[in-house]
Amino acid sequence: MTAQDDLKRMAGAKAVEFVPEDEYIGIGTGSTVNYFIQALAASGKTVKGAVSSSNATSAMLEKYGIPEVTLSDVVRVAAYFDGADEVNHSLQMIKGGGGALLREKIVASTADLFVCIADESKYVARLGKFPLPVEVIPHARSLVARQLLKLGGEPQLRVGFTTDSGNEILDVSGLDISRPLTLEDEINQIPGVVENGLFARYTADILILARPGGAEVIKIGV
Ligand code: 5RP
Repeated sequence: MTAQDDLKRMAGAKAVEFVPEDEYIGIGTGSTVNYFIQALAASGKTVKGAVSSSNATSAMLEKYGIPEVTLSDVVRVAAYFDGADEVNHSLQMIKGGGGALLREKIVASTADLFVCIADESKYVARLGKFPLPVEVIPHARSLVARQLLKLGGEPQLRVGFTTDSGNEILDVSGLDISRPLTLEDEINQIPGVVENGLFARYTADILILARPGGAEVIKIGV
């Protein structure tokens, strides 16, 4: 296990403290979230059910005996737990490194509280070093890529990858993300774009940031 894995595990374990018992929760996707699921199962805390953001997370929920519910079963989730590829000091994020950004954003939009769990390498002053994942309808891939070039980005097809919803991902580097909310909306206006990995509209409320000395809890507006 790498030092970064240790920090991810620490963040995942700390996040269990924020799980509201006997409520519905939402669960994101990725290695940090997998540590969270393991820690939740080991904690003995019970939830009414969990809305999953991906097939991979659904498999983890089944493995660890956490009951899964669908978005059709619930109106809102009390809290949503997810990792990030980058998170800035306003708790805006780039997500989608694991390709689950579409369902992640949908579930996040139904949450009363968004808890982001991350190791310190993800915490940045400015978003954009990590290429922004953009989920596209395969038919429109080249058209969208040309529009992203016009926005100053360099799109790269994620080769051999199909999302759970049957779409493709363009990973876009070089974008100026000084105004995350504006760019999130602008990219989503391009016909053929299904969703992009900027989470500036649905920001985290709480960031659990694991550092070698311990897990820090950073709250905004809570
Ligand atoms: C998946 C995501 C993940 O939260 C993000 O990629 C971080 O993953 P990890 O916890 O494995 O570092 O957005 O779509």
